[in-house]
Amino acid sequence: MSKRILFVCLGNICRSPSAHAVTRALAPDWQIDSAGTSDWHVGEPPYGPMQKAARARGIEMADLRARQFGPADFDAFDMIVAMDADNLARIEAQRPAGNETPVHLLTDFGNTGADHVPDPYYTRDFDGCLDLIEACARALIARG
Ligand code: 4NP
Repeated sequence: MSKRILFVCLGNICRSPSAHAVTRALAPDWQIDSAGTSDWHVGEPPYGPMQKAARARGIEMADLRARQFGPADFDAFDMIVAMDADNLARIEAQRPAGNETPVHLLTDFGNTGADHVPDPYYTRDFDGCLDLIEACARALIARG
């Protein structure tokens, strides 16, 4: 089944572009995008060390550019997937009246035991971030 999924983090340069790139590689017939709840990095490619860690495992994201999440995204996707509870709240605060698009945490999928995707911009654990994202993304795709 083809699905439209939007991944959302804060800056749209580490976690959500990683989820975007991992998921489009695993489910090439799905329509995948990513965005940030902030405008801090709009127009920028993913963070260099994030790209490098992903490339080392065959995931390419150099073509992506950061953009800011907005209310129109609720109608453009079948599901919105946030990287942590703060960003989920920022998304929900923009929900248009009457819209029922589901918004989940990425860590809702799979059995990783995690309740959010830690931000590698601060932790510097780019590989751990990718491991978690890959496990959750596989479970999300398997769910259909
Ligand atoms: P992201 O990580 O939300 O996973 O893209 C961040 C990247 C940059 C900043 C914060 C989070 N920043 O403060 O610039």
